[in-house]
Amino acid sequence: MSILVCGGAGYIGSHACVALAEQGYRIVIADNFSNSSPRVLLRLQRIIGAPVECERVDLRSKTALRRLFSRYDFAAVMHFAALKAVGESCTQPLAYFDNNISGTVNLLQAMEHAGVDRLVFSSSATVYGDPERVPVDENARLEVTNPYGRTKLVMEQLIADLCSASHRFRAANLRYFNPVGAHASGLIGEDPGGIPNNLMPFICQVATGRRDKLNIFGGDYPTPDGTGIRDYIHVTDLAQAHVDALRFLMREDTNLTVNLGTGRGISVLQLVRAFEKASGRRIPYEIVDRRPGDVARVYADPTRAQRVLGWRARHDVDAMCRDAWHWQSLNPNGYERDRAELPSAR
Ligand code: NAD
Ligand code: WQD
Repeated sequence: MSILVCGGAGYIGSHACVALAEQGYRIVIADNFSNSSPRVLLRLQRIIGAPVECERVDLRSKTALRRLFSRYDFAAVMHFAALKAVGESCTQPLAYFDNNISGTVNLLQAMEHAGVDRLVFSSSATVYGDPERVPVDENARLEVTNPYGRTKLVMEQLIADLCSASHRFRAANLRYFNPVGAHASGLIGEDPGGIPNNLMPFICQVATGRRDKLNIFGGDYPTPDGTGIRDYIHVTDLAQAHVDALRFLMREDTNLTVNLGTGRGISVLQLVRAFEKASGRRIPYEIVDRRPGDVARVYADPTRAQRVLGWRARHDVDAMCRDAWHWQSLNPNGYERDRAELPSAR
């Protein structure tokens, strides 16, 4: 039996594939490559030491999903496939509702039809909006501040309703804080198309000279150095939590919602300094206006993940910066989006 990894060609999904394969699971990736490159498959093969099965499937197609589930015997599904750009979601909310929510409903239907009843779902700290207090635990008030966040909250709720309605269906909602870093091999990592929205990939591109300087959004937050504080977590720690959550679901007859963060808040300036130390490159920056919708500080209380899954983040911010830089310096243009060279995804 295999684990279906929807969105497994993407940033976090590809790292989860490595963790799964290294721990003895057979994986099948389903991805439409809307935000990833099939080149990741050869990189995965090099890391794992065996070919990776992949089907080019768009979760918006019920027919493609039915076909996929009829061809394999899946023990469980990990669901990473989503659009994730907050700003874009504000200008194209319907695309986000369709891709993220309709795609998930289709996936759940296909799972029910095939009798596959274990799901590990990529949620996000975005469901906490602007938290009343930090660190944020899983009982904090849920609120959304943009359409992307709404899709995550709605998907959590839909999945919870399905769990209540079914005697067998069980799910783990994993609420990620700020994933950064890359596999230590430097073969896979984050490869945003266009101008990066997120801090770490932007810093990486400044370090390679692809961008002149970093704009720091706000220097007047009520934080020690005035810049925003977040909980950055190494993507390989995140990947391991997925395997731990999968084992939990296979073992226990219960659902799970956990924060995945380090529990440590890092400011933008602290991350810049750590990156400069790890890379030996200077990161020129300018402090500009706050970015609309940003909050001063968000970091996790990860106690539940440790208690229930026995998981904790092992990499510190220096390791996150070192591995992000290793990936970026080896792959200054990411996977190089060269459409002419795309192999068929199987
Ligand atoms: P990503 O864009 O790198 O990966 C998502 C993958 O899903 C891509 O390979 C994309 O091609 C695929 N995909 C998207 N829509 C699809 C569809 N309709 N059918 C098939 N494949 C589809 O993103 P990521 O950073 O790896 O994020 C993975 C998940 O984690 C997402 O659900 C995201 O919302 C969530 N998340 C990400 C972050 C973050 O900062 N990266 C934080 C919290 C939560
Ligand atoms: C981090 C800090 C910025 C870019 C987003 C989503 C969230 C989740 C993770 C998916 C903030 C500052 C950033 C830049 C900057 N994604 N910054 N200059 O906003 O915490 O979270 O990604 O679920 O939903 O909202 O992450 O990396 O964009 O920003 O100064 O060029 O860096 O203001 O303080 P964020 P981020």
